[in-house]
Amino acid sequence: MPAVGGIPAGGSGKAYPGKLTPYVTVTCIVAAMGGLIFGYDIGISGGVTSMNSFLEKFFPSVYRKKMADKTTNQYCQYDSQTLTMFTSSLYLAALLSSLVASVITRTFGRKLSMSFGGILFLAGALLNGFAQEVWMLIVGRILLGFGIGFTNQSVPLYLSEMAPYKYRGALNIGFQLSITIGILVANVLNYFFAKIEGGWGWRLSLGGAMVPAAIIIVGSFALPDTPNSLIERGKVKEARAKLLKIRGVTDSEIEEEFNDLVAASEASKKVENPWRKLLERKYRPQLSMAILIPFFQQLTGINVIMFYAPVLFNTIGFGDDASLMSAVITGIVNVGATLVSIYGVDKWGRRFLFLEGGVQMLICQIVVAAAIGAKFGVDGNPGDLPKWYAIVVVLFICMYVAGFAWSWGPLGWLVPSEIFPLEIRSAAQSVNVSVNMIFTFAVAQIFLTMLCHLKFGLFIFFAFFVVVMSLFVLNFLPETKGIPIEEMTRIWGTHWYWKRFVAAEEEDYPNGGHVEIIGKAV
Ligand code: BGC
Repeated sequence: MPAVGGIPAGGSGKAYPGKLTPYVTVTCIVAAMGGLIFGYDIGISGGVTSMNSFLEKFFPSVYRKKMADKTTNQYCQYDSQTLTMFTSSLYLAALLSSLVASVITRTFGRKLSMSFGGILFLAGALLNGFAQEVWMLIVGRILLGFGIGFTNQSVPLYLSEMAPYKYRGALNIGFQLSITIGILVANVLNYFFAKIEGGWGWRLSLGGAMVPAAIIIVGSFALPDTPNSLIERGKVKEARAKLLKIRGVTDSEIEEEFNDLVAASEASKKVENPWRKLLERKYRPQLSMAILIPFFQQLTGINVIMFYAPVLFNTIGFGDDASLMSAVITGIVNVGATLVSIYGVDKWGRRFLFLEGGVQMLICQIVVAAAIGAKFGVDGNPGDLPKWYAIVVVLFICMYVAGFAWSWGPLGWLVPSEIFPLEIRSAAQSVNVSVNMIFTFAVAQIFLTMLCHLKFGLFIFFAFFVVVMSLFVLNFLPETKGIPIEEMTRIWGTHWYWKRFVAAEEEDYPNGGHVEIIGKAV
């Protein structure tokens, strides 16, 4: 690994024993299902808003425009602010609720936030499925957003705390896997529900969100809380018994990890206001990552594909059916590539995946931009499109999705959840979720307008950011593979850039242990 990458992979001072027990595996799989609700929503909205019966009922002006529109400029066909506002309102709600969730997650445990998330989402799905008026749709969507804010704040933290550190990457990516499964299932359902005679299929699509909501509600009631959170809330004995069960090793073998968790919790308890704490200079590396990682994740442009794949495929000349089908194909690629990431993340490391994914996305974006530019030019009138052309575009879009799905997709949730020390973990994770939601909102809100104005250059716009984020990873993100979560502070002290923020404390306590550092510094 180059020097800029910080300490070598797996170079932590400590190696807590811990097996991949059936108990921890099942627990993490159940918790990871929290991603289903997020994924289901991402996948369902685009398809529903392109169903004519739905538009006619709730957005008649958009419907009339769509019907009357005989424009030959394909780039501007779908430019409707009302509709994008409907889709993206959820993200603003999620942003707000993740801030509330931070307090609940810290004070009452990760589990309760997951249950809240499920319940709010269930209420939103009910309201949407039975909607008669636009207000029911909007209020329903806001409830869905509140639900997502809670689960996205708590689930990644839960997974990273539960997992034995050697398998943390794989177990955490279960969350992203659920997101991708949610998206795929939603795409497939839309495909079939859109065909229902009588045009009420959208009710099934929206109401279907009740299923993933029920899964996470039941799951969260059955789950144990993490030892880290139990200790933080004073339940020390229970935490020790839990840790023993989770790790599947002997009582003496968990001693070191347990003591470190207690010490981290002692430090954490002294912190009255984690938000103010987060602004302290020594947390600058973590704060920067909490902001930049989700920002970059969204600036890959992935949600242009996730939200608008049918619209996009329509734009490049596919019929309605073929467009929905292509969305299903990208959905399958998304799930498959996430499995690759689960396999490789604790072997090849985070940085390798980030960089490989970046290069792959970049190449695909350039090819897609060139292909669309060549045929559609600037006036958006392609004439007849040969079949091979459509195949090439879909192929490169699939390769782009694969690149994302084994890099920024899962790592955008994994890396932040594993680098925050306990005392700021919950607050910092809220920053991560909020920034993710703001930029998901922004991309969703401006995509159609950007397509209309930037035309094929839109892909170049996102390609530019992919270059920037890859350089960022190369120079500023140390490897986090194989390092216990409560030991993670060490990686900054040896990093060429970040050490200036944490160096003072490192020098004071040359034995370098994270616990000692924060134990005395707070
Ligand atoms: C992102 C979503 C995206 C999804 C695609 C997630 O990690 O946060 O915005 O739609 O991946 O699979």
